[in-house]
Amino acid sequence: MSRRMLIAGNWKMNGDAAQVDAFARALSADAGAISADMLVCVPFVYVERLAAGLADAPVALGAQNLAAEVDPGAFTGEVNGAMLADVGCRYVIVGHSERRALYGETDAVVAAKASAAVAAGLTPIVCVGETLEQREADQTEAVLAAQLAALFEQCDRATLAAAVIAYEPIWAIGTGHSASPEQAQDVHAFLRGQIADRDATIAESVLLLYGGSVKPDNAAALFAGADVDGALIGGASLKADSFLDIARATG
Ligand code: PGA
Repeated sequence: MSRRMLIAGNWKMNGDAAQVDAFARALSADAGAISADMLVCVPFVYVERLAAGLADAPVALGAQNLAAEVDPGAFTGEVNGAMLADVGCRYVIVGHSERRALYGETDAVVAAKASAAVAAGLTPIVCVGETLEQREADQTEAVLAAQLAALFEQCDRATLAAAVIAYEPIWAIGTGHSASPEQAQDVHAFLRGQIADRDATIAESVLLLYGGSVKPDNAAALFAGADVDGALIGGASLKADSFLDIARATG
């Protein structure tokens, strides 16, 4: 099976209305010529503004987080999946390392959020990845296997079949030091193998994104990996030019 390439932007807590408008204008002009699927995850408050700006562009919308709770109710400050779908989101990032490290999201919370996303009709982009310490101690595969195992134990098959997995080595995020193409491909092949041990159909179709200092000048080499199906891009997604250049590198 040939999988489509997916290019996802993650603005994190960045941007303002003017930047959203400029980005939407640039993508509306140039996104049509790009063959990869594209999406951008902006802060909640800018989703509708970006959706309006991208109305005629083949670029999907996403959010960076959602509540683990499905039903509305007394959860001050939270936003559920149905609300995200309501304002035009099709994707949501779940379990980004910043949320795991700064906001205490455990594997169980991440699995609950992935399930909540799929219940709302959204595609969760579930992030996994090891710290530098873990890599240097040769624990990368064990850490990733445990993160995947938690997902497989707690999510139903519909959630697992819908999810996109993003491999984001923590040491590569925002550092300017991307994983090498070989490191990324090795881990992606490992992840696909782990999934295949449980469900061969999902393993064949699941999109595995690489994230961590992806830039226009390293994207093509990373995308050459047979199991690298695209990228989750932080810093380089804030400017339309670099985001589009990375999307063009999918070939
Ligand atoms: P980066 O961030 O591209 O700025 O390294 C990636 C991410 O955190 O999703």
